[in-house]
Amino acid sequence: MKSKKILIVPKHIITVNERDEIYYDKAIEISDGIITSFIDKDKIEYGKYDGEIYNVPDYTLIPGFIQTHVHLCQTLFRGLADDLELLDWLQKRIFPYEMAHNPESLRVSAQLGIHELQTSGTTTILDMGTINHQEVVFESLIEARMRAFSGKCMVDENELMPEFKETTEESLRTSYELAKKYHNTENGKIKYAFAPRFVLSCSGELLRKTYEMLSDFPGALYHSHTSENKDEVEEVRRRYNMENVEYFDSLGVLSENTVLAHGIHVSESERKTLKKTGTRIAHCPSANLKLGSGIANIPEYLKEGVSVSLGADGPPCNNNLSMFKEMRLAALIQKPIHGSTSMDALTVFRLATIEGAKALHIDNYTGSIEPGKKADLVLLDLNKTNQSLLDNEENLYSDIVYSAGKENVKDVMIEGEWVVRNGRSLIYDENKLVEKGREELKKLLERANVK
Ligand code: GUN
Ligand code: ZN
Repeated sequence: MKSKKILIVPKHIITVNERDEIYYDKAIEISDGIITSFIDKDKIEYGKYDGEIYNVPDYTLIPGFIQTHVHLCQTLFRGLADDLELLDWLQKRIFPYEMAHNPESLRVSAQLGIHELQTSGTTTILDMGTINHQEVVFESLIEARMRAFSGKCMVDENELMPEFKETTEESLRTSYELAKKYHNTENGKIKYAFAPRFVLSCSGELLRKTYEMLSDFPGALYHSHTSENKDEVEEVRRRYNMENVEYFDSLGVLSENTVLAHGIHVSESERKTLKKTGTRIAHCPSANLKLGSGIANIPEYLKEGVSVSLGADGPPCNNNLSMFKEMRLAALIQKPIHGSTSMDALTVFRLATIEGAKALHIDNYTGSIEPGKKADLVLLDLNKTNQSLLDNEENLYSDIVYSAGKENVKDVMIEGEWVVRNGRSLIYDENKLVEKGREELKKLLERANVK
C-alpha cells in the first residue's frame, strides 16, 4: 500500500513535549496518520516533495485538545436547564430529557456535539452516554473519525426519577455487550469507558461489578462523577456514612483507570486517597460555576501530584464545548483564591493536551507533537485582533489560553485525516445539522413532557 504523506509547514509548532519546546524553523511530516519527523524549513525542496504540502506560514500548530469529561447525549438540551443546582437540574430537566431520547434525537445530539468539539479544536473525548441507544453515539463518533472513549451511563437506583433506570443485571449486561462490540475498534480510536453515573444513581453492587468488568477490556476506563455538589455529598453521607471518594474507595473502584469528574467537595484525606490510588480528576470549571457547585482546589491537586485534566461537561451546564473557555476559566477562577501566579497559561495548556492524554493512558500516541505519535493536530490563526502582537513563547501560551477561541481554529486533523478545513467541518453541513437538531428537539420536547 502506498503511504499517504503530508508535510505541514506552519509558523510555529507548540510541541508540549517534556521540554515544552516551540519550534519556529521546522515543518512536520506525517505518513499514514503518524508524525514521522520534523524537517528544517530551509531544507524543504518544494518542487520535489512526493506528498501533499500544506504550507501555512501564518498558522500555529498545536496538539488537538483532549476533553476528559463530556456528555454528547445532552447537546440537544443546551439552554433548556439554566440557573438550577445539580440535583434539581437532573431531576427537573436532564433525566426527563435523556429518557425521552430516541435513536434519531440521540444521533443528532451527538453529531451537534462532535461538530462543536472538532471545530473548536478538540480531537479526543471521554464521553458519558445515556442509558438507551448508546450504539448511536458510537456510530456518530466513528462517522466523524473522532478519537473517543464512550459508554452508556449506568443507573440502577434513582430517587430523583424512579422510571429512569435499569436493573443492575441489565445495566451490567448491556454495558458488557457494548464494550465487546466497540472497545478498541477503528484502529484503537474508539474505546469503551464504563460509566456508572454517580453514587446517588448506582447501587454498591453495580459500582463494584462494573469495575470488575474492566479486567476483560484492557485500555478501557471507569468513568463517573464525584463530590460535585454539597447536597449530593450530604446525601452520600446520609446513605453510606462516608464521604463520596471514601465510599468509592471502600468499594475498591479507584485506580489509575478511574476518571472522576468534578472532585470539588473533597477532604484532605480524600485527596490523599485520589493520589494514592492514581484516580484521575476531570476538572470542569464552567459547569462547576454555572451549576453553582463550587471551585475545585486544582492547585492543591497539582501540588500533591493528582492527575488533573479538563472537560466541558454537558452543554446544558456550560453552555459551550470549547476547550478555550475551559482553559481560560481553569486559570482565572483560581487566581482570586491562590494568587495571580497560580495556574499559569503553560500549566493550563498542558492540562488541555498532554495531561488529558496521560489521564486516559494514551500519551504514548497522542497529546503532544513528537515523532512516533499520531497526528491529532490543530492549526490556529493567531493573527487576529483578539491576540497579542508578539509571538515569543510566553505570548503564545497566553494568547491561546487567555485570548483565543473557536474563531482562531482553522484546520483540525485526527490521525492524519482532516476533519476541519478553514474553520469548516468536512464531516457535517452545519446548517443541515442545526435544522435536523431543531426538528428532533421539537419532537423530543413533546415526548418529554417537561413543564
Ligand atoms: N452528576 C450525575 N449526572 C450528572 C450530569 O449529567 N452532569 C453533571 N454535571 N453532574 C452529574
Ligand atoms: Zn458530567
